[in-house]
Amino acid sequence: MALIVLAADKGAPGVTTAATALGAVWPRPVLLAECDPSGGDLAYRLPAQDGGVLNPGRGLLSLGAVARRGLHPDHIYEHTQKLVGGLDVLTGLTHGEQAGGLTWLWGPLGRSLATLPHADVLADCGRLGGHAQIGDLIAEAAQVVLFTRPSLDHVAHLRERLALLDSRPVVVVIADPRSYRASVEEVRRIVAPWDVAFVAGLAHDPKGAELLRGQWGGRLDRSLLIRTARELAGRLAALISPEEPAGQRADRRGARR
Ligand SMILES: Nc1ncnc2c1ncn2[C@@H]1O[C@H](COP(=O)(O)OP(=O)(O)OP(=O)(O)O)[C@@H](O)[C@H]1O
Ligand SMILES: [Mg+2]
Repeated sequence: MALIVLAADKGAPGVTTAATALGAVWPRPVLLAECDPSGGDLAYRLPAQDGGVLNPGRGLLSLGAVARRGLHPDHIYEHTQKLVGGLDVLTGLTHGEQAGGLTWLWGPLGRSLATLPHADVLADCGRLGGHAQIGDLIAEAAQVVLFTRPSLDHVAHLRERLALLDSRPVVVVIADPRSYRASVEEVRRIVAPWDVAFVAGLAHDPKGAELLRGQWGGRLDRSLLIRTARELAGRLAALISPEEPAGQRADRRGARR
């Protein structure tokens, strides 16, 4: 179905937390893929479905070891695991140095994730700028989503990134609930000169972020983080129609390049 890239320019605004929250409430079948070249966090943060720890050796690294012989979308699920709530996850590299030997992987991985038959893919690509080859994966995305905090330094870097992107991204402001609307509005005003699909918010909610790391349940479901994630997931999923054949999306991407 569709590959959706989640990323930030600088700082650590909360991309991995947002990716997990969006995966938890995504309205269609979904795979969460940790494609951050600096390394993944999920294996250390979230329990597996059986309550044990995720195996950091099964994921992008094990996939990279076999993918040199060719990567087919069917191979992806041989390297995924299930998170506590049942969400399928492809865990990331265990440290950034591993990315040095895997620069060739991002393009083929992007093509496989973009054509996974029965699930959308939320790819956490971390901070952009450090590893140029991740661009090969981003080029395959149906949608890029850039996360920012509303502070001046974050938004200044976001604007620099918008000037470099050749796609029409969604911008998500991770904002304090007390100044939520004003923060989203302010960022909307600042990015107005750029062609963005829409600007939306996601709650900065430390309690919700903490609950997301434990056993998922009713309290998490009622948290501001999950409520705002559900609204965002609905808007994103509607933007990327599953009815649109992958071939047509490829044509659109080709036209953008
Ligand atoms: N929406 C949120 N509400 C409250 N706390 C958050 C939220 N998002 C992230 N955090 C907190 O901020 C810290 C960084 O979050 P996270 O790892 O998601 O950021 P990141 O952008 O993926 O960072 P990195 O670039 O290092 O991968 C964590 O301690 C996390 O709990
Ligand atoms: Mg992260």
